[in-house]
Amino acid sequence: MARLCLAVLCLIASSPCAAAPPGDELPSVFTGSARNKLLLISFDGFRWDYDRDVETPNLDKMAKDGVKAAYVTPPFLTITSPSHFTMLSGRYVENHGVIHNMWFNTTTQEKKQYYMTQFVDSYWDNGSLPIWITAQRQGLKAGSLHFPGTAATYKGETVKVRQVEPRFYDHSNETDWRLNIDKVIGEWFHQQDLDFVSLYIGEPDLVGHDFGPDSPERREMVQQVDRTVGYIRNKIQDHGLTDRLNIIITSDHGMTTILRDGLVKKIILSKIPGFSFKDIKFQLLDYGPAGMLLPKEGMLEKVYQALKGSHPHLHVYKKEEMPARLHYSNHPRLLPIILIADPGYIVNGVLPLNSNKGEHGFDNEVMDMKALFRAVGPDFHKDMMVDPLDLVEVYPLMCHLLGINPEINDGHLDNTKHMLVPKKNTGGENNNPEKKNQMEVLIGLSALMGFLVLVFIITTSFNMWKRTRG
Ligand SMILES: *[C@@H]1O[C@H](CO)[C@@H](O)[C@H](O)[C@H]1NC(C)=O
Ligand SMILES: *[C@@H]1O[C@H](CO)[C@@H](O)[C@H](O)[C@H]1NC(C)=O
Ligand SMILES: *[C@@H]1O[C@H](CO)[C@@H](O)[C@H](O)[C@H]1NC(C)=O
Ligand SMILES: [Zn+2]
Repeated sequence: MARLCLAVLCLIASSPCAAAPPGDELPSVFTGSARNKLLLISFDGFRWDYDRDVETPNLDKMAKDGVKAAYVTPPFLTITSPSHFTMLSGRYVENHGVIHNMWFNTTTQEKKQYYMTQFVDSYWDNGSLPIWITAQRQGLKAGSLHFPGTAATYKGETVKVRQVEPRFYDHSNETDWRLNIDKVIGEWFHQQDLDFVSLYIGEPDLVGHDFGPDSPERREMVQQVDRTVGYIRNKIQDHGLTDRLNIIITSDHGMTTILRDGLVKKIILSKIPGFSFKDIKFQLLDYGPAGMLLPKEGMLEKVYQALKGSHPHLHVYKKEEMPARLHYSNHPRLLPIILIADPGYIVNGVLPLNSNKGEHGFDNEVMDMKALFRAVGPDFHKDMMVDPLDLVEVYPLMCHLLGINPEINDGHLDNTKHMLVPKKNTGGENNNPEKKNQMEVLIGLSALMGFLVLVFIITTSFNMWKRTRG
């Protein structure tokens, strides 16, 4: 009798496992701790080919130890906040809503520059969650230092460990970079045991603007970046984290040289025949090669016709006729007319005030807009050169490395999986916490069912026994 009970119990208890799909999730239940840590570093404006005319021993060493992509294609608009929020969310700009570095209100005419926009929660929290919040919701510890979007609150939650740069911050100071790196690696990863940190460094963007991408100043800054990469990897080694920490180094966009006065005819909207600022309710101009206009009621067609074809290097689109590949059309924050200049040109309103030698913000198909992508760590292949990828792909890759369920996004893990060493048990899908929970519930239920059956059998046989005795 007892043997029969046991057999029945085992059969019932094990049936849900037998019914689980092949290649099932079971092993992951026992390998939750196999997840490695992840450090995402963005060097602002590091063009894909900046290592070609400078000695970069540390970046070269990292490529030897890890993965190097030919380049990464940023989303359009190729500027800081939109592109960084794509890194954090895996969504194109029209899907995440951080459409510009500047917050603006077309009714009040108010504009906030890059820094103040960091604190406008509703601007960032527009339907897409950055990876920090997703990781925290799934039980991981996340941190962020200076990364665009760090200051904002998303659905009531911020990245728990964070450092936002002061208002007037020197983004180029190498000593300060090292102090920040010490904090991220020594305190956040080592002492506080964080799982994921995003780290932002504001160069070589600034030298690219001020001196141009072909300047000796830019080459010198790339050497500073390279020393920093070496410093980071040494720090990681010193704290014994090399085998437990993956590093992804990438950037938000590249940089191209602006053609000089006298050599070219500048794009100055106020000088275009038939165009008048009297017809414009709100404008976002004088911000590099892209601009946006909100014409006054009934003036859209007039403004559009005046601008279209007015300069051989100015592209004029109604919002809805933007090329679909740019993914910069379908969002209520985008204004009805969008202007994009060809490489070398910028869009000026009344006066050509912008004297930058280098700019970005151009079409993301322009080679000078492509950015750096490198990765190294226990989950990456060594000495592997891979094809170009899109920046939207970095998000699903990071979620996979962290073993978390991604939010809806525009990338796909298939496009980066070849960078990773095959593993038996770990990885995003296998570590899928939701499925793990379901499995635990299922196992619990089967145990309960088995117990009830056992109680039933014992009671019945006891009653039978009582009856036969009585
Ligand atoms: C812009 O300002 C108007 C008037 O104050 C306000 O009604 C509107 O909600 C604001 N829009 C945004 C996006 O803040
Ligand atoms: C995103 O912002 C736009 C305009 O600012 C607003 O109309 C829309 O409701 C927001 N969407 C979400 C999901 O927050
Ligand atoms: C760089 O930063 C360090 C540490 O914050 C500071 O002591 C130093 O004065 C800075 N150097 C320059 C040139 O500003
Ligand atoms: Zn810039």
